[in-house]
Amino acid sequence: MKSRHFLSIADVPQDDLLEIFSTTEQQKRRLAAEGRLEPVLRGRSLAMLFEKPSLRTRVSFEVAMTQLGGHVTTLGQNEVSLGQRESVADFARALSRYVDVIAARVFKHAHVVEMARESRVPVINALSDYTHPCQALADLWTVREHKGKWEGLKLVFVGDGNNVARSLAFLCSRLGLRFGLVGPADYAFDDASVRKIHARATHPRFAFEMGPDPKKVLRGADVVYTDVWASMGQESERELRRKAFAPYQLNARLLKSARPGAIVMHCLPAHRGEEITDDVIDGPRSVVFDQAENRLHTQRALLSLLVK
Ligand code: CP
Ligand code: NVA
Repeated sequence: MKSRHFLSIADVPQDDLLEIFSTTEQQKRRLAAEGRLEPVLRGRSLAMLFEKPSLRTRVSFEVAMTQLGGHVTTLGQNEVSLGQRESVADFARALSRYVDVIAARVFKHAHVVEMARESRVPVINALSDYTHPCQALADLWTVREHKGKWEGLKLVFVGDGNNVARSLAFLCSRLGLRFGLVGPADYAFDDASVRKIHARATHPRFAFEMGPDPKKVLRGADVVYTDVWASMGQESERELRRKAFAPYQLNARLLKSARPGAIVMHCLPAHRGEEITDDVIDGPRSVVFDQAENRLHTQRALLSLLVK
């Protein structure tokens, strides 16, 4: 793997992405067959920082590191107070003298970029306001497992043009899925994101569509994805957003606009009864817990390739 850091799918070379997926497949198969993996990260350490809460990201990284024979230390915002107790640069300079890889969940994407600039070891974005690249890896691997391919499929994200939607668009543009974003115009991708999605696209079968009409954008969708309407850090906007996004709840009626065999995805945590109904998230087309499990498998591959 050529990449030194893993901050945004848009910055990761195509070959590196494909290597992460092939390693995911090999490790997952071996783990199922033999119950264990080579401890390729024995004696190596991962430090994680969480400025925001986490279940899946934290536990999947910890277990991945354990399965590879490594060690983990996890820091919370109360201990670190990023940018207050000390500068982001000093945090990264000091921490990278102890460990072999850093994963950070931050409010400001600029902070994870600065960490990478100052760190002596690889830095992984474990979610920022801009992207959630580890989530996209697990999601597209899950699509591959359920649909057997990427090329030519259509993935539609219903809701907020946020961190999760942005990472998915970046990854679809590399793997040859068509990507659609449907939601209120005020919450669509900004112009700079749309330009970047097109600028970094490498696959000839990638296509991009964005608009407010669910019937139109969901037509032909093989994958229907949603996420919370108010992300972590946007809690004060919850009521405003609840009104704006109400027509975009992923329910049985909305799902009818997609293909009959479309699968349903959500990064979790879900606000049931808001962006998705119980019958849809618990229904036969939902693959949300396969996605959650695949966080472990794709991040384990990422760690084993990134830590030299
Ligand atoms: N999907 C996801 O990142 O979950 P957590 O916030 O629980 O880590
Ligand atoms: N968009 C959500 C994703 C949570 C995994 C958030 O940022 O809170």
